[in-house]
Amino acid sequence: MGTDQANGKILRSAEWFGTKDLEGFLHRAGLKNQGWSEESFAGRPVIGIANSWSEATHCNAHLRGLAEHVKRGILAAGGFPIEFPTISLGEFFLSPTSMFCRNLMSMDTEEMIRGLPIDGVVLLSGCDKTTPAMLMGAASADLPAIVLTGGPQLKGNWKGEELGSCTDCRRYWSELRAGTITQADYDSMEAAIYRSPGHCMVMGTASTMGAIVETLGMSLPGGAAVPGADSRRKILAENSGRAAVDLVRKGIRPSDILTQDAFDNAIRMLLAAGGSTNAIIHLTAIAGRAGIKLPLERFNELSESTPVIVNLKPGGKYLMEDLFYAGGVEAVLKKMSGLLKLDCLTVTGETLGDNIADAECHNDDVVLSPEAPLAKEGGLTVLKGSLAPDGAVIKHIAASPELMKHTGRAVVFENPLDLKNRIDDPDLDVTKEDILVMKGAGPVGGPGMPEAGFLPLPKKLLAQGVRDMVRISDARMSGTAFGTIVLHVSPESHVGGPLALVQSGDMITLDVEGKSLDLNVDEAELARRRAELPEPVADGGFARGYGKMYSQHITQAQDGCDFDFLIGKTPVETHVEVAGHNAGFHTG
Ligand code: FES
Repeated sequence: MGTDQANGKILRSAEWFGTKDLEGFLHRAGLKNQGWSEESFAGRPVIGIANSWSEATHCNAHLRGLAEHVKRGILAAGGFPIEFPTISLGEFFLSPTSMFCRNLMSMDTEEMIRGLPIDGVVLLSGCDKTTPAMLMGAASADLPAIVLTGGPQLKGNWKGEELGSCTDCRRYWSELRAGTITQADYDSMEAAIYRSPGHCMVMGTASTMGAIVETLGMSLPGGAAVPGADSRRKILAENSGRAAVDLVRKGIRPSDILTQDAFDNAIRMLLAAGGSTNAIIHLTAIAGRAGIKLPLERFNELSESTPVIVNLKPGGKYLMEDLFYAGGVEAVLKKMSGLLKLDCLTVTGETLGDNIADAECHNDDVVLSPEAPLAKEGGLTVLKGSLAPDGAVIKHIAASPELMKHTGRAVVFENPLDLKNRIDDPDLDVTKEDILVMKGAGPVGGPGMPEAGFLPLPKKLLAQGVRDMVRISDARMSGTAFGTIVLHVSPESHVGGPLALVQSGDMITLDVEGKSLDLNVDEAELARRRAELPEPVADGGFARGYGKMYSQHITQAQDGCDFDFLIGKTPVETHVEVAGHNAGFHTG
């Protein structure tokens, strides 16, 4: 055994199962112990199912069931499935933030792929960080891989109004704070929005990453938009299992798919979708694992010729379920095909162009024409200037047009706790023309760059009817949020970036069209303030463990917040020449 029955090649899994010695005995016994006959796995590609199912990640809670459908496909194609768990990162429960653990999950995924007796892998993800984390790990291990997300939730419905998670949770939270709805109203929305399996169904981070992964060619066509509750996602799961076996037989690795051109396509999808700012960080990190540098400038370059055509909240009108009925991401790709590199290889074994050849759009108000878009340039802009020498990001498609060019007086909060304690103080010196600035929420200082960038507006301004102000921080923001919000200011304040020097009363200028963000304080005064900055706390205050490693190796936003030692890849061997060639003593 150990030779693929379909093509005669010796499989990687033969290192474990193909030898007639003590090791082979034990490895085969480990499967027979679970009731599998040798005929079930002998001479078949072994496909891992890396499952981020967890009850602590509600968006991924249905992946345990979905894995069964992946197994059907693997078995039907002549492969053998081995499902294994990874850690799972849910946005709601995990402290201090799921981003703090994204790289840990990528390491978990990579080392499981590297260490287990598998020839290929299906990555089951869903919630925001789980998809990039798994793809980062798979790109570094470079074993044939395919992503299957859990799909978006169905539309929420509250008193007849369609609601999207969690754009409308935030919108109504502001209304609650303004006193226009009651606490009982707000409570009754909880189950009305989150009513079905899957991830948030606006074009937030999870939906954006799903669309990006499909565009990259790392999931099957249709992979992003089929709702988690739709039976067609189960069929997609089965087909993903089949495709994984095929990928092994064709010897197609992530490095064959994750090319510079594929990343350009993915950036265009992010921009055309008016997608999440978080995706800039995740795409940069995934590309880094594939050995490709994505400078922030590339996002602005491609933005100039990429119109926003996906009319989904938070920048537009509809939800992912509507996009599914309109033809899904394939319909978007078809409409923007003139901007794409269509000869990129995908997990189907065909090119992106082949995959969308027959795609159709069934609702031209959900997927707009590039000639009549929501915005004629991409939904995100990278800013640079004296306040952000290494970059900052604004999702202008979800911002107020009248604030796109604005100079205002800074009202500064030293960290998220300071903000929480003072934002509703009736004596806070703030007007709607001011700019709210928060420090201390970057990759190191957060730690984990929390999604704290959606700074709440002061209650007293909400009561006056104010619903947006310019807000600036080194934090991230949920992809479901909206407002004139500048994020990812780099270098972050904790490591002494100019943000650390801002004081209340300073004037700041935001110019989205000019792509600039400037602190209008003279250099001599800044030098004086810089000399008075306290030394950062060593190792982020962590005495030991993952936090200490995190603090020592985390990179800034423009480098994807990956660990410096994880960037790049070390491909595993596949199709070894001789069975048992590289087998260690796997007996534990
Ligand atoms: Fe998981 Fe929004 S909480 S995608």
